[in-house]
Amino acid sequence: MNRLLPTRHLGASPLEVTSIGLGLMSLSGIYGESSDENGMAVIQHALDKGINFLDSSDMYGWGHNETLVGKALKGRREGVVLASKFGQTRLPTGGNGVDGSPAYVQSACEASLKRLGLDVIDLYYVHRIDPNVPIEDTVGAMARLIEQGKVRALGLCEASPATIRRAHAVHPLAAIQTEYSLLYREQAEETLKTTRELGISFVAYSPLGRSLLTGKVHSAAEFANDRRKDHPRFHEGNFERNQALIAFIEIMARQKNCQPGQIALAWLLAQGEDIVAIPGTKQTSRIDENLGALNVQLSKHDLDTLSKAFPPGAAAGTRYPAGGMKGVFI
Ligand SMILES: NC(=O)c1ccc[n+]([C@@H]2O[C@H](COP(=O)([O-])OP(=O)(O)OC[C@H]3O[C@@H](n4cnc5c(N)ncnc54)[C@H](OP(=O)(O)O)[C@@H]3O)[C@@H](O)[C@H]2O)c1
Repeated sequence: MNRLLPTRHLGASPLEVTSIGLGLMSLSGIYGESSDENGMAVIQHALDKGINFLDSSDMYGWGHNETLVGKALKGRREGVVLASKFGQTRLPTGGNGVDGSPAYVQSACEASLKRLGLDVIDLYYVHRIDPNVPIEDTVGAMARLIEQGKVRALGLCEASPATIRRAHAVHPLAAIQTEYSLLYREQAEETLKTTRELGISFVAYSPLGRSLLTGKVHSAAEFANDRRKDHPRFHEGNFERNQALIAFIEIMARQKNCQPGQIALAWLLAQGEDIVAIPGTKQTSRIDENLGALNVQLSKHDLDTLSKAFPPGAAAGTRYPAGGMKGVFI
């Protein structure tokens, strides 16, 4: 493994991860088709390039993603920090439910370990907070997983500051995972005030704005066959407004002889040593390009200019469709 990539600690846990990890969600069909052969190649390439932080969930392809990463890690588990998540469920009616009950925590973790073919998950997150179960009960059950040696560290996704405080009082959290990018700063930066006070790291998901910040998307019609067609940021009117914003980083990228997505990732990582980005891709060459963000130098002036061009609330369209928005920041 290439050990030269910069690393960051996750909270007070023993976990040390590369500041750019790999999000595995799109390797399970969420953003259109992806073959297992390709998924394996993408994960192997990331590890070859020195990335040690892989982000999965039991709901990415409902088990598929964990089975895939488990196969990819055969013979090369050492040094890898594997994150997975639980809490989203499939309702018999077809939609997604949420379950944070202690009994479910235990059974979901055991099912994930089986699919992964591993003894331990390094970082185990609640994927969505269950509003009907006190967070103390959910995190209490997760703490028991640590005692049992099934999990090394704990995290929450999309938790509000109040929920983070209550959870952290039960067992120290290593990381909070929430969407954060130039496009969507509001809730992330509100969350950061609390994570910083408590010494918890921040894992920024969808750091490329689900592709918008790469400057490579020319029409929302490109997503007619994937989940993004339902996301307001790509809807008519919003998409054009967001594209107009992105023109700004395209200009800076040309000046710096780099790619717009690299500017977006470099800005994010410059927001603090407590931040880790997990861009996702189905293409090996884009892993290299995203890692290239580590070589992009942004001066204080550049950072301020970007922050002003993309103020909190800049994006047109909410982070999720209306139903999904009810499950975040709670
Ligand atoms: N906790 C949660 O609720 C939650 C929610 C969403 C995501 N996540 C995690 O965050 C990870 C990343 O989020 P994401 O995949 O939604 O969004 P993202 O990383 O912001 O963007 C991914 C998209 O950008 C494209 N892309 C990546 N690198 C590129 C490059 N260098 N040039 C051009 N296009 C590029 C990818 O297309 P190609 O595949 O064609 O490269 C893909 O369409 C996920 O994999 C998942 O692990 C967590």
